[in-house]
Amino acid sequence: MAVSIHLEGLTRRFDRGPAALDDVSLEIRAGEFLALLGPSGCGKTTLLRLIAGFETPSAGRLRFDDRLIAGPGCFVQPEARNVAIVFQSYALWPHMTVGENVGYPLRVKGVRGASQARKVAEALAAVDLSGFEARRPADLSGGQRQRVALARCLAMEPGIVLLDEPLANLDVHLRASMEETFRAFHKRTGATLVYVTHDQGEAMALADRIAVMERGRILQASAPATLYAEPASEAVARFVGHGAIADAEILLAPGDGHARVRLFGTQADIRCAAGARPLAGRMGRVCLRAEDLEIDGPEGFAARVLSSTFKGSHVRLVVEPLAAPGTRLALNAPHRRSEGETVRVALRDGWLLPDGAAVAAAPACEPVPA
Ligand SMILES: Nc1ncnc2c1ncn2[C@@H]1O[C@H](COP(=O)(O)OP(=O)(O)OP(=O)(O)O)[C@@H](O)[C@H]1O
Ligand SMILES: [Mg+2]
Repeated sequence: MAVSIHLEGLTRRFDRGPAALDDVSLEIRAGEFLALLGPSGCGKTTLLRLIAGFETPSAGRLRFDDRLIAGPGCFVQPEARNVAIVFQSYALWPHMTVGENVGYPLRVKGVRGASQARKVAEALAAVDLSGFEARRPADLSGGQRQRVALARCLAMEPGIVLLDEPLANLDVHLRASMEETFRAFHKRTGATLVYVTHDQGEAMALADRIAVMERGRILQASAPATLYAEPASEAVARFVGHGAIADAEILLAPGDGHARVRLFGTQADIRCAAGARPLAGRMGRVCLRAEDLEIDGPEGFAARVLSSTFKGSHVRLVVEPLAAPGTRLALNAPHRRSEGETVRVALRDGWLLPDGAAVAAAPACEPVPA
């Protein structure tokens, strides 16, 4: 049975430095697929270890459904939590066969004989490894080993599965095919999944919701499309999809989810939070994605081409608006352009950041990664 996970002000401090996990509150629905995304050291593994019971919270509470699992005066041991973990390294026992590896958690539970063999065969079939029972981990490919680790999880029938960068050791092709395996795995177990990854594409493709972390905190937890289109802050806008950030003057914001702004010397209609009414005449910060910018339209602002890179299906341009020296915007074009050439760029869309709206001063636009 899937289990909901409730983090209430969960904090983990180690001896030195700032808290590895800092007052995190989040509700993870039963059966949800939640991806955790964030730079190295932001606390992703610490969060998983707290859920699994390999760490004790310094403050706050952890509940599974209505049951207190960890908190003041309470700590349920890891083996009593019915949580399965898959790590980046497969953590299979090399001296055991595939069948013995998958059957191990069943043996611990007292499931033996024909009943164990049937469950092992079922779990292996679910990850497309029927008939691999007698093989040794050493005789498998990286992807196959990771699938054995997943089968071992399946056999446990856990309510919660935690995955810490399970595909990090696999090559690009294998990663893509494993995405399908994970989707099927989630469907089959119905378990609540928390999936740590460095790969934004993977998180976007698989997760019901993505939580973006930074310095021990969750900055935003939203559905992938919302996270991309409506980042709550500049940090999320920059981290997810490399959004460019620029300052704009707000001309009109009637509160219907749209705002008219002046940006790089031209006017444009962009999106803003529904109901938000940033003040006309004030400055706001806008997140611009490559697909918000269109080259060679009749209108738009003038920009200088800084670089032009062939990407196969398109050409990636980095341009600098003449009206905002130092600002770099990435966009996609059908053909290569010469460096130093002046082009016209139209603003088709954009997102007025809720946390940056209506700032008083107007500092120069900031550069963005190419
Ligand atoms: N046992 C420990 N003792 C001291 N500090 C620790 C310990 N475990 C983690 N930390 C610190 O806590 C912070 C968060 O670490 P964590 O492993 O959770 O990061 P992460 O987001 O998983 O990073 P990565 O993407 O590199 O795996 C880091 O600053 C780390 O150095
Ligand atoms: Mg980690």
